[in-house]
This record gives sequence, structure tokens and C-alpha cells, in this order.
Amino acid sequence: MADIFTGPEPRLGDLLVARPALSMHARDGLCFEGVPLNAIADQYGTPVWVYGAGSMRARFAALRDAFRQQDLPVHIHYAVKANDHLAILDIFRQAGAGADVVSLGEFLRAQRAKIAAQDIVYSGVGKASAEIEAALSQGVGQFNVESAEELEMISALATRLGSTASIVLRMNPDVNAGTHAKITTGLAENKFGIPAADVPALYARASTLPGIVIHGLALHIGSQILSPAPYAAAYSKAAEMVRALRAQGLEVMVLDLGGGIGIGYHDEPGMNLAAFAAMVKQTVGGLGVKLLLEPGRYLVGPAGLLLASVVLQKQAGKRFVVLDAAMNELMRPALYESWHGILPVDPALFYEPVSPGDVVGPVCESADCFAKDRELPSLPPGTRVAILDAGAYGAVMSSTYNARPRAASVLIDNGQVMLITPRQKPEDLWMDEILP
Ligand code: LLP
Repeated sequence: MADIFTGPEPRLGDLLVARPALSMHARDGLCFEGVPLNAIADQYGTPVWVYGAGSMRARFAALRDAFRQQDLPVHIHYAVKANDHLAILDIFRQAGAGADVVSLGEFLRAQRAKIAAQDIVYSGVGKASAEIEAALSQGVGQFNVESAEELEMISALATRLGSTASIVLRMNPDVNAGTHAKITTGLAENKFGIPAADVPALYARASTLPGIVIHGLALHIGSQILSPAPYAAAYSKAAEMVRALRAQGLEVMVLDLGGGIGIGYHDEPGMNLAAFAAMVKQTVGGLGVKLLLEPGRYLVGPAGLLLASVVLQKQAGKRFVVLDAAMNELMRPALYESWHGILPVDPALFYEPVSPGDVVGPVCESADCFAKDRELPSLPPGTRVAILDAGAYGAVMSSTYNARPRAASVLIDNGQVMLITPRQKPEDLWMDEILP
């Protein structure tokens, strides 16, 4: 996020060094997981999302292993919202993950990717009754309940269906995650969760309600968090709460630790996983509860990029590099002023002198800007650039604004490139519209 990174702008070479999945070859140019990006652009056109299965598996293993090192079993539920492509859900299911979903659409997607309903956690501040009913009748593993009102609703629906809902209460710990205001969720002023002061009475009530079995607590304090410190504050409050509930004679067996683990968008290190796991062990490791994690960005962010071509370079007082990708593909810079690395794909350009320029898309909004005053070489029309770390909250947040057909996406797996989303055809844009 532009407002929380204070280091100097990394150079192109620094970006490369910080990302082991990327390499620059004298002949093939920029490669991702060993595959030349020019070859992908030649075959599938641009803009195109490029994902690396190897990176996803490696990141999943690194997170799991950080907890194994602490001898602390955690159940990883991939946050589907970060990237809900079936091919990606399939990778995490095979790696042993469950899913964290926030809508019936995500629930059905996860099921379509053969993630068992039992392994799905259903979060969200406004689950509609039809969504709750559908998930219940499919045997969803757990609802993370965000209010007293929702608790009553689930109890009534489950009772009517003759089923039992497994739930945890999402507690709002009122801690500042130190991240961008638009993705902070654990402050009292945010719409999420139940104020800590209300949790004991609600927990007690939940344990008497028909159609409900309450197993524990959940928290999620925000996203793109780079230090264990805010988590430590939240988890300590959760541990205190678990002890208080138990002192009341209530049973607590589950603690869902949420997601939010941050990545380095510049050349800074992302969350230190060993320190994170050690902190979890220290704050909640002794409670004897089953621990759940809901990471999204950490698993897929650096495992994807958006490959685009330069349409033209325009001089208008300053240099503008106009790409064929736009805010309708990657909305994060427009929405959060977020910083994404941008690398030329051509090996010759990589070593050319740099000068500042704005990298923009063709959409008719000034917010359609990927980077301001970015130090880049001259990028002639037709050359390609990779917009980095776009695997999380990229394609899922894209739209067809300005009647721009949805971009294609490919998955690299063991050096093989597979088309996993064909580029949308212009006529598909109005396929579902009814002309009266
Ligand atoms: N669990 C819950 C309850 C969540 O609300 C979220 C994200 C996650 C898990 C996963 O968080 P992660 O590990 O990916 O940080 N569109 C924004 C991020 C929004 C995050 C919303 N909630 C962005 O592009 O930065």
C-alpha cells in the first residue's frame, strides 16, 4: 500500500532478486517459473493473467511447515475471495487445504473444485437466509457468525431444516492492524464481528439455542499485515476470552485465526512466517484448541502476474506509458493506491536507462493508473510488461468496464502452460442482455 511502505523505490533488478519465480534471460527475456512471458503473450495475446502452480504449492508448503516447526497443527482454509479460479482451488485442495468462503457463489465454487462441504468455513457479515439454507443443506463445516441477529437467524433456519449448524463467533478484538484503512477489519468502528464485551453472553446463549452447536471463536483483523505485532494483540485478547468462557463453564474447542498475512509488494520481505508461527504458539498454542487459518493473498499474490503490451508512449508534459491492460483488469492501484512492481519483458530494455513515467490503461478515468512517476526504460509500442504480484485480488475484482472483454488466464505447471480462462469474445459481453 502506498501509505504504509516508506522505503525507497526499488530498482528493476531489486524487484527481480526479491522474486525467485521470476528470472531474466539474455535471449528469452523475462520468465515466470521458467516460461518466457513473450511466448505466452505470442500465443494467448495480452492482457493475460499468468499464474504459477509451483509458486502456489511452495507458498502453501512454507506456511504449513512454519507451523510444523512449532509443532503446532493448523488447518489452512484458503480464502477463496483472493482468487476463485477452479484451477487454483484445485491446487490448494490437492495440497490439503479447506476453503474460507463469503458467499454462496464461493461456497458452490469450492464444492465444484471438490472441496468437501465439511472443509468449508463460511464467513461474512451479511449471509442471506437463502445462502445459509443452501450451505446448511450441503453440510457446510462451520459458520463464522458475526452478530446476535445472525445467530438467531441460523438457529431458526437450522431448526426448520431439521439440521444442526456448527458455528463459531467472530469476535471484533478492536486492534489496529496497521494496514490500509480500506482493508482494516478488526477495529471497533468496522462493521465486522461482535464486540468483545458482548461475546460471553452471546456464546452462552448460542450454547442453549436449538439447531446450533457452538465450537469456538474466530477473528480476522485485516489484510496485508506485515508484522506479527497486531496479531499478537488480537490473539492475546482471544486467548483471554477463551479462558473467560471456560471459566463460565462453556466449552471452547476451535479458534479461527483469520487471514491477512502480508506479502512484499516492493522488495521488502513479506511476513516472517517463522516469527508469525512462533507468535501464534506463544499466544494461543497452550489453549488446546483446534486452530484454523484463512490466508488468501499470501498463498496466491506473488504466484500471479498480469502480462500487458504497450499501446503507445505519449509525451504530454510528462511521459505516459499506455498499456492494453487497465483498471478493469487490476483495480487495486485505483482503489487502494497500491503499488505493484512493473518489469519490461524484453531483455534489452531491462538494462536501458530509466526515466519517470506514468503507467496507465486506456479506460476513461484518471484513476486508471498502475503507477505514477515510475522509473522505467523507454517502452516502445508492442513491447510487453509484467505487472507483478497480481495473483490475489486481481482477476476476482476485475470487470468489463468500458466494454473491455475479460482477459484470458493461463496456468504454468511444471513448465507447461495451460489456458484456464479463454479471452472473452466481444459478443459475449452482451450475451446475457435482453433487448426488449
Ligand atoms: N478471512 C476473512 C474473514 C477475510 O475478510 C479475508 C479478506 C481473508 C480471510 C483473507 O485475507 P488475506 O489473507 O487475503 O489478506 N481486496 C483487498 C483485500 C481485501 C481483503 C478482504 N478480506 C486488496 O486487494 O488488498
